Amino acid sequence: MSMTNIADLVTIRPVRLEDAREILDIYAPYITDSLVTFETEVPTLEEFTNRISEISSFFPYLVAEYEGKVVGYAYAHSFRERAAYDWSVETSIYVLPEYHRFSIGRHLYEKLEALLVKQGITCAIACITYPNPDSITFHEKVGYTMCGKILKCAFKLGQWCGIVFMEKILADDIDSPKEPVSIHSV
Ligand SMILES: CC(C)(COP(=O)(O)OP(=O)(O)OC[C@H]1O[C@@H](n2cnc3c(N)ncnc32)[C@H](O)[C@@H]1OP(=O)(O)O)[C@@H](O)C(=O)NCCC(=O)NCCS
Repeated sequence: MSMTNIADLVTIRPVRLEDAREILDIYAPYITDSLVTFETEVPTLEEFTNRISEISSFFPYLVAEYEGKVVGYAYAHSFRERAAYDWSVETSIYVLPEYHRFSIGRHLYEKLEALLVKQGITCAIACITYPNPDSITFHEKVGYTMCGKILKCAFKLGQWCGIVFMEKILADDIDSPKEPVSIHSV
């Protein structure tokens, strides 16, 4: 199977709560064995399902499906609680390692951003572990720019690490922007 064929055969669709097990199976190794996420304990399936339910009640939460299997996912969620941040989201994306570099991440983000724009969201922010050169390069390739760095703010797996913020402006310089609406209204 060529790279192009895999990308063509992947379906990007909204999450279903039944996907929670497969999504958690993608995410869990990054909790236990990597610095990619600063979460340190694998949540229960129930807790993880509740998270998906809560996030997808307002924001887009998408999965990439290939041959009936969830091979990646991406979602947006609130960046900060304070009201003036309502136009910004934090984005998150994970693809199964054996499916990396097949454009699945790019396709997930393209669909995610199209939905965010329809909602009225103007700014997407990726908060990435520093160092995580793979994710930084990926985000650069899909149009994010580096906008902030904290060198040492977290300790996991015996080492200190930081975070970088990368930003993608989805809609620029809107005077009097309208309050974003739920994904279920677009
Ligand atoms: C980051 C991640 C989602 C990228 O997904 P992906 O499906 O492999 O990315 P794509 O194939 O769509 O790549 C899109 C572009 O980024 C580039 N890219 C992706 N991963 C890269 C890497 N590790 N090194 C260099 N470039 C990379 C691709 O070459 C491609 O560029 P091009 O369009 O110019 O050819 C995936 O590597 C992943 O799940 N990583 C582990 C979890 C993680 O770090 N998530 C982000 C947390 S902030």
